[in-house]
Formats: sequence, C-alpha cells, structure tokens
Amino acid sequence: MKVLVVGSGGREHALIWKLAQSPRVSRLYCAPGNAGIEALARCVPIAAEDLVELKAFVLSERIDLTVVGPEKPLALGIADEFRRSKLRIFGPTRGAAQIESSKQFAKDLMVRHRVPTASARSFDALAPALDYLRQQPLPIVVKADGLAQGKGVVVARTREEAVEAATDMLERQVFAEAGRRVLIEEFLEGEELTLMAFTDGKTVVPMVAAQDHKRVGEGDTGPNTGGMGAYAPAPAATPEMRTRITREVLRPIVDALLRMGCPFYGVLYAGIMLVRGAPYVLEFNARFGDPETQVVLPLLKTDLLDVLEAVVEHRLEQLAVEWHERAAVCVVMTSAGYPGSYPTGLPIKGLPESPGSQDAIVFHAGTKREHGQVVTAGGRVLGVTGIGARLSVARERAYTLASTISFEGRHLRTDIASRALRSVV
Ligand code: AMP
Ligand code: GLY
Repeated sequence: MKVLVVGSGGREHALIWKLAQSPRVSRLYCAPGNAGIEALARCVPIAAEDLVELKAFVLSERIDLTVVGPEKPLALGIADEFRRSKLRIFGPTRGAAQIESSKQFAKDLMVRHRVPTASARSFDALAPALDYLRQQPLPIVVKADGLAQGKGVVVARTREEAVEAATDMLERQVFAEAGRRVLIEEFLEGEELTLMAFTDGKTVVPMVAAQDHKRVGEGDTGPNTGGMGAYAPAPAATPEMRTRITREVLRPIVDALLRMGCPFYGVLYAGIMLVRGAPYVLEFNARFGDPETQVVLPLLKTDLLDVLEAVVEHRLEQLAVEWHERAAVCVVMTSAGYPGSYPTGLPIKGLPESPGSQDAIVFHAGTKREHGQVVTAGGRVLGVTGIGARLSVARERAYTLASTISFEGRHLRTDIASRALRSVV
C-alpha cells in the first residue's frame, strides 16, 4: 500500500517512522517532509496547504491513503475535497475540524452538551470586550477564535495585559481573520494533560495520555512555544481518569458532531486541565498533537496502518488497539531565539546514521539538506525521544542521545518530565 503523509514536522516524522514498520506499507511519501523523513519516505516539494497539487499528486501516483498532520489543510477542507474524489484520507472534514478552527464553535458545542470547560464570553467589538474585562477577576484568558499557530492564547496576569491582548486581536488585527472574534475565558488552575483518541465518527479509542511542555524556559517560564518536550503516559491520567475524560468529554463531542451531520473521522485531541481532580477542556484539536505524537506513537503496539484504515473504513469497533507498557520522553532541541526570530541554515553535527534504535529516536522537525549536509530550517529543529520500561529510563535515554547532537545556539530544556518523576518514579 502507498501512503502519503502531509506535513513537515516532528509529528509527521513520527507518523512516517511508525508507518515504515507496517509490513503492508510498500511505499511512503511525505509532502513536503524534512531531512529526517527523507531516509524513510520520498519527499515531494508540495506545501501542506496546496490542496490542488496534493490531490493531483495522489491521483498520479495512485496513493492508497493520505494522512494529514497539520490543522491548516483540514480547516481548508482537504478531507472534503479528497472524499469527493473517492480518495481515502485520514482526517476530519472542514465542518468537523471547526472543533479546532473556531474556539467559539468548540465552546458552544461543549456548553450545549454539558462538557466541562472554563466559562467564556465571546466578543467581536473592542468596547464591550474591554467593559467585560474590567469586571473579571485575574488572571483572565484572552483567546483568538481562529487558527493562530498556537500563539492566539494569552493568559493575562494583569488587567493591562488583558486589555493589550484584546486590543491586539480586535483592533490591531495581529492575527488577521483569526482574531476578529475573541473569547474571554475564566482562568483554570491545575495539572494539564493531553488525551488524544482515534475515532471513526462512532467508536472512540483513547490513546495513552501525554503531557507537553509549552513554555520555552526551565520550570515552565518564558513565552509559550509549539512545544519543548513531552512525555507519556502522564501519571495524572490514571486509567479511571482516562475513562472519565472519554465519557465526559470525547464521547459527547463525537456523538454531537455525528448528530449534527459532520461526523469526526481522525484524531480528536483534548487539552485538559485537571482542577481539583476534575477534568475541564482547555481546547480541542482536530489532529495528532506535536510533540505529543512523538511520545505516544512509539508506545503503540498495534500496526498504525491497521488503526488508520479502521478509522477510514468506519470499522474501529472491530479493532483491539494495544499499547506497550512502557514510557516515552521527548526532548525538543530548538534554534537560538525561538519562539522569537532565529537563524537557520546552521549545520547539525552528531546526528546518528540511522533514525535510531527502538529505545532512542531522533525525529526531525525544522531541518533540511543543503549540499549533502543536514542544516537547521526552523525554530523547533529536532525531537529526541527515549523509550524505556519507566519514565526515568526513557528520560535518561532521551537526554543521553540529545547530548551527542549539536548546532550553534542549540537550546533544550533539561527538566522535561521532571515533575512527573517527582510524583511517581
Ligand atoms: P490552548 O491553545 O487553548 O491550549 O491554550 C494554550 C495554553 O494556554 C494551554 O495549554 C494552557 O496552558 C493555557 N490556557 C488556555 N486556556 C486556559 C484557561 N482557561 N485557564 C488557564 N490556562 C489556560
Ligand atoms: N501540543 C499542542 C498541539 O499540538 O497543538
């Protein structure tokens, strides 16, 4: 079977790495891919948002299944377009992907179906937003309604910060269309975790829960990033808690979307805050998370292709999805200056010849090949995942491998999974 993965980050490398282990996959393609993915798949220079070219490529190469990594093509309707042409694609339609592309849509759905979430009000004009903000307790959260590359959420500790954020979005239009409406949301405090689930519109199969590290600095300080690392399983997500989140969050949303006529096929991602032991939804994504996928897929025992096909063919109920009783830790290596501006084109030294053993793997994110040399090409450059019987072993393996790889200005957090290790070991 020929499989195309759309995207170019660590998540896509992890998808390709896992699919390459499937005996039924005969050929892998990635659009556009990166320097690490090249070792396992044919990379084609088509942008992830270029739906016309992607479809033309799939038709000409007779690709059997397309798997979508990032949110943008989903929000643009890649799944609708492919299904219209009877092409098999793993990912939700534009209608169902609104769960991620519009925070207002997600919030309304949660309120209607009593899914626990922070209370919020939405505004599309600045004056009433500011009036409302002045009456709210601090901290307060200001969110752009649309897709803003993970930058559309401001947790404001002061009233000035909150006013600044709302003004940036509604008046200065820093996120253009995506910020034409804002949600002003109650601040929730607690332990964060990610629970992703495979769903074919009816059956919901939760994965191992993960936790990511969004802040750039040690001890969760500094600005938010696309993710500095992750680990799984998250100790806070006991089997009872996963069952509870599935029952109170994932199940009602999947059922509601089906009844609305836009069934969700793909991965539904719930970002959860555990507040005094109770789960509340912070956000939904309509796809695999990054870097979470880099720790969750290495723990999947079942052939990933079997799972993806069961979703696409709406027969997930018949498949037993199994997981290894192991742990994984991913440490992300970033360019100097990230998440602000950063240099690119810097040579990366010490990369292992093969992507890695089964216990430590280098997933590429922002890399490319230039004159035979792998160089940096983004803010998040590599994700180094260690796997082991316990979190402490996995973590040790990730950091040991990461320490052998270098490029100028390389940054990584040295405390990935530390909190979890303090709470269990
Ligand atoms: P989101 O993109 O909605 O996940 O928001 C990014 C990050 O902002 C989350 O991972 C949380 O750390 C934080 N966040 C979002 N909503 C809230 C909230 N209501 N209360 C506290 N923190 C939040
Ligand atoms: N790790 C957060 C995301 O994938 O959006």
